Amino acid sequence: MTKSSSLVGNEKQVRYLRSYGLRGRMLLETAELNKGTAFTDAERGEFGLEGLLPPAVETLDQQHQRVIQQLGQKTTDLERYIYLVQLLDANETLFYRTIMSDPAYFLPIVYDPTVGEACLKFGHIYRRPRGMYISLKQKGNIRAVLANWPEDEVRVICVSSGGRILGLGDLGANGMGIPIGKLELYTACAGVPPKGLLPLLLDFGTNNRVLLNDPLYLGLRETRPTLEELDAFVDEFVEAVQERFPNCCIHFEDWKGTDALHYLARYREKICCFNDDIQGTASVVIAGLVNAMRIAKQNLKDQQVLMFGAGSAGIGIAQMITSAMKLEGLSDEQALSRVWMFDINGLLESTRQDLIAEQKPFAHSHSPTRKLLDAINTIRPSILIGVSTVGKTFNQPVVEAMSEISERPVIFALSNPTEKAECTAEEAYRWSKGKAVYAAGVQFPPVHYDGKLFLPGQANNFYIYPAVALAVYVTRAKRVTDEMFIEAARATADQVTDEQREKGLLFPPQSNIFETEVAAGERVATLIFKRNLARVDEPKNVGVWLRGMLYKPEYKNYVL
Ligand code: NAI
Repeated sequence: MTKSSSLVGNEKQVRYLRSYGLRGRMLLETAELNKGTAFTDAERGEFGLEGLLPPAVETLDQQHQRVIQQLGQKTTDLERYIYLVQLLDANETLFYRTIMSDPAYFLPIVYDPTVGEACLKFGHIYRRPRGMYISLKQKGNIRAVLANWPEDEVRVICVSSGGRILGLGDLGANGMGIPIGKLELYTACAGVPPKGLLPLLLDFGTNNRVLLNDPLYLGLRETRPTLEELDAFVDEFVEAVQERFPNCCIHFEDWKGTDALHYLARYREKICCFNDDIQGTASVVIAGLVNAMRIAKQNLKDQQVLMFGAGSAGIGIAQMITSAMKLEGLSDEQALSRVWMFDINGLLESTRQDLIAEQKPFAHSHSPTRKLLDAINTIRPSILIGVSTVGKTFNQPVVEAMSEISERPVIFALSNPTEKAECTAEEAYRWSKGKAVYAAGVQFPPVHYDGKLFLPGQANNFYIYPAVALAVYVTRAKRVTDEMFIEAARATADQVTDEQREKGLLFPPQSNIFETEVAAGERVATLIFKRNLARVDEPKNVGVWLRGMLYKPEYKNYVL
């Protein structure tokens, strides 16, 4: 930042603080502006802080050291999570300074897996409100409720219904931990400014008896209505968002599978929105497949794919793989014919009567079978992707059959948590005699097999959605398309070096996540301009322009 632009910024800040009468304790309690012990003597004088803070004036780094020391005294990740939530409520800059200092360490604490435990116990560990809660009781009144949000320039709402939280099922209003965590990752992983981000929970009740009987549960104490009954309410919400926040993208997160598919199909062509469970998951799988194809020296369009699990994640991946095959030159029909699905009732084939609309295009002509091995032996897939929620289903005969079909069988075991993985990294490498190109939904440790080191990848959505969100944020995109997710996938895949791929690594190291995502965000933003989907003018240099808008966890000088 140049001296003159920082002066303008500072003057604006001083005026902002004065115009809002933010002084004294009010200022200390406003997390976005609070600097705590880092307020200078001049700022303490100007804003009525004298006597309200200990005399020492510290730097952000000194405060950060104290945070690290205090975190070190906690004995569980859930305690660290609670500490960090309170830090975010107290001092936003220090919170982001902390988690951005070591993403590989902090992301599993502020997000998956710790956030799962935090959601289970949400009503018990609750401290302060964050984001917005809109319940069925507010039907007909959603515009007025949204008007209560103090920020006018909301640019992304991450909204959950709590319908299917991670692999934990229906958690009702406890699901709020997810939109909060997802949006923190926008900022921590891709520098999206937190000011325009709004976590939101649509409370339709819950069918979870444990929660309904928990005296500390904070949500609506009723069971969920049918999907048909919800449509009018969700339509009202979506329309109210368009009116109140015209440049806002809606990120749907952790809705029940069928609801997720239904609402994505309902709105994706009409407004700027995406569903991370469907499109983000699919996109990170594409990133993995791009590198798997480089390792196998093959093209995606020539592969046979078998999806094991045909829920929202499986359908999203199957659709995105066909989109990616079409970008490689296949027709719709050709691409669809290469992707097969298998679910709890067996192979999806043309005589099945129990399929939903999104599954039918993948139900090809084949005799019915409930045995995965039989399906593998007739379809002969080179890519097998597990999103079934059932652990240990890729057993030794399955992995051996895949290894007979191709030289480098691609086996992704994405169900999580760990015990639900269809097979472990060690099993995949051992049973395939080191041939498998493997990724999981969780992080497995490195594997030594036959004198060689293998680095199993984690197909974590956090590689993708912050980058897409950054691009949507800066360009004020009109729509979010599959092509944008595929571009993010390719950009992510391109950041894995030959040497890393040699060891089986399919995704970039998490320690470098910020640069990875910003680079992917730049590629997606460039595509948005190319497709005329931006609502701002195209700058001369997209990279420089985008980097100039990134959030940095630094204090501003309020008084010069
Ligand atoms: P879902 O519940 O919508 O779908 C599960 C599917 O698996 C259904 O089609 C069901 O019929 C099938 N299934 C269940 N038992 C089966 C069995 N014994 N044999 C064959 N198929 C069976 O769940 P969703 O949302 O699609 O997620 C699936 C899994 O994928 C979850 O474990 C989730 O944690 C994981 N996932 C991983 C991601 C990642 O690694 N980035 C992202 C999203 C989901």
